[in-house]
Amino acid sequence: MNTGELERYLSARRAEVEAELERAVAPGPGRPAALVRAMRYAVLGGGKRLRPVLALAAAEAVGGARMRRRALRAGCAIEMIHAYSLAHDDLPAMDDDEMRRGRPALHVKFDEATAILAGDALLTDAFELASTGRSDAARDLAIVREIAAAAGSGGMVGGQVQDIAAEGRRRVSLSAVREIHRGKTGALLRAAVRVGALAAGCKPSALRRLTRYGEAFGITFQIVDDVLDEAGDVGTLGKRPGGDREAGKATYPSVLGLEGARAEARRVADEGYRQLAPFGARAKPLEGLLRHVVDRAA
Ligand code: IPE
Ligand code: IPE
Ligand code: MG
Ligand code: MG
Ligand code: MG
Repeated sequence: MNTGELERYLSARRAEVEAELERAVAPGPGRPAALVRAMRYAVLGGGKRLRPVLALAAAEAVGGARMRRRALRAGCAIEMIHAYSLAHDDLPAMDDDEMRRGRPALHVKFDEATAILAGDALLTDAFELASTGRSDAARDLAIVREIAAAAGSGGMVGGQVQDIAAEGRRRVSLSAVREIHRGKTGALLRAAVRVGALAAGCKPSALRRLTRYGEAFGITFQIVDDVLDEAGDVGTLGKRPGGDREAGKATYPSVLGLEGARAEARRVADEGYRQLAPFGARAKPLEGLLRHVVDRAA
């Protein structure tokens, strides 16, 4: 896929995602207006939508168009959890960032209690969205379980805890950084690929390959996030760069240097591309998405 094709692919998928997310955080009976406002601010304020697009692309790679609705719902549930994780990540008790996606962070725009509670609501409502299938309860249960495992103590939250515990530590090994990244960022990206594949009724052998692709995607993605924190500018980052270094975060550039981190991103991405070979042309979007991530750090 060349850049133009990928851009067209992304914008078509993003339109579906935005519509689904808009429904998921619509005002409704019993939902306090102030809470809905904060949830909408967290979810609808931009964002690359990589996780739901990955879910759709994985479903397309194995199952064609048939199960797209279920993949879209599962991917959007993950996006809601992602939005909650960002709202909490920016809190003073965590990364203490005042800007996100080029705007005030949620707790700055509203207040801390609202940011915490909007995050709680997004996490919980995500499971309502992921479990509102109509036709195949066993498949929905597998998807819900997948999302829960990726978001919880053995996944994203576990990784966030390790990230904070490693702050300021003088010597952190590459394997320790990789483990942090696997959890805090990798788990939800891996799950995004897997729920798309599960929604499409993927065979075990294909699921194994897509899982390895998703793992490579997750690590590559966080290496690039680390590189951009060090080398990017406010315009591309949507927030002030340099925060990781100031906070003494365990990052790839802190262990390997900037060029070493860029090279490692390319190496891990190559592992990801290799997994896609048997899927042929149907996996071109998955390949293009990973290439797009690597190119951001170039
Ligand atoms: C940023 O994620 C935080 C990490 C998990 C590294 P994204 O870069 O996907 O954030 P948005 O959703 O596009 O703003
Ligand atoms: C965030 O990692 C991971 C999660 C929110 C789970 P970072 O702290 O590196 O993300 P940014 O750089 O603030 O977006
Ligand atoms: Mg963080
Ligand atoms: Mg942060
Ligand atoms: Mg970062």
